[in-house]
Amino acid sequence: TKVVLAYSGGVDTSVCIPYLKEEWGVEDVITLAADLGQGEELGPIKEKALTSGASISLVEDVTEIFVKDYAFPAIQANALYENRYPLGTALARPLIAKILVEAADKYGADAVAHGCTGKGNDQVRFDVSIAALNPNIKVLAPAREWGMSREETIAYGEKFGIPTPVKKSSPYSIDRNLLGRSVEAGPLEDPWTEPEEEIYVMTKAIADTPNEPEYVEITFEQGLPTHVNGKALSPVALITELNEVVGRHGIGRIDMIENRLVGIKSREIYESPALLVLIQAHRDIESLTLTKDVTQYKRGIEETYSQMVYNGQWYSPLKMALDAFIQKTQERVSGTVRIKLFKGTASIVGRKSNESLYAPDLATYGADDTFDHKAAEGFIYVWGLPTRIWSEKVRGN
Ligand code: ARG
Ligand code: SIN
Repeated sequence: TKVVLAYSGGVDTSVCIPYLKEEWGVEDVITLAADLGQGEELGPIKEKALTSGASISLVEDVTEIFVKDYAFPAIQANALYENRYPLGTALARPLIAKILVEAADKYGADAVAHGCTGKGNDQVRFDVSIAALNPNIKVLAPAREWGMSREETIAYGEKFGIPTPVKKSSPYSIDRNLLGRSVEAGPLEDPWTEPEEEIYVMTKAIADTPNEPEYVEITFEQGLPTHVNGKALSPVALITELNEVVGRHGIGRIDMIENRLVGIKSREIYESPALLVLIQAHRDIESLTLTKDVTQYKRGIEETYSQMVYNGQWYSPLKMALDAFIQKTQERVSGTVRIKLFKGTASIVGRKSNESLYAPDLATYGADDTFDHKAAEGFIYVWGLPTRIWSEKVRGN
């Protein structure tokens, strides 16, 4: 039998290689590492898979697809799970599932595998995405079944020449890609414990941020970010640049208790500077260019969309139908937002658009006001009629 394993180079996925071979009788383990712009040299990971017993070690750079087809639609949806988490990890899973299924097809594998535990969201995202893309393929999840503690996992790996993690003492579980970092476990398991400064790498501590504010202008075309400070940037370059600019002002950190799909609460630390500011800016340009009813109706769609992405339903029919709705709303969401970055806060201080629905002559309190004040009176009478009738009833007159 032949299996394609989603590979990150970490202890768990490395141990999966000998485990699949020794315990489950798999003959060929093909590892597949996804380059999602995590800014890490993937060459050593390729080597590591081979020394851990993989027959073929693949590395696929999907950073551009990740940003264009996964992150950008999520920005258009203003997707924030439980109003806070911009889904950096959750968005990567359906893409990894896609390249796993493609590799399984190409190499004639009997199954695909991942190294997720049995209590997280990631296992759900992989399994459900894989089922959506190829309902006939088997998914193996050794770490869900082996019941080894971290120490036992490391010891098992050592028997098969898998090097002990250099920083054996790092107690954190970290997932990282171009969109951000997700950090959990270790001391963070106590919700009262303040995170050590060392866990942050994309965002500066406020004490180390510039003492002058910095202004940045982000331009959107049909809901997609295209320019920073008037300069056209490719999707990957744009995220890279904003991560840097926003992060150096200490903006983009989240410390939250979230509700996992499997029912437990977990404490997560996120860093996602570019994505958070892009959603903030996108929402603002929408406020200028969408009608009142579309804006308000879309909020509910966004909430459902965010939950679906978190819960592993990227390739589900409802999610795709919501995508169609969101795409339709973005046709005139174009314009530029001006943001002030300073000491951990991104403030939107200006916005403009050729598609702006803001009517200065109607909004003004000045002399050139064209709003028909007299029309308000009849409108209010009709608008308030149900409340007036109810009040008369309950007051018995
Ligand atoms: N809780 C976050 C999520 O569900 C992050 C998961 C991070 N994964 C990891 N293997 N450390 O998206
Ligand atoms: C895992 O259990 O693999 C990581 C945590 C998560 O998926 O939420």
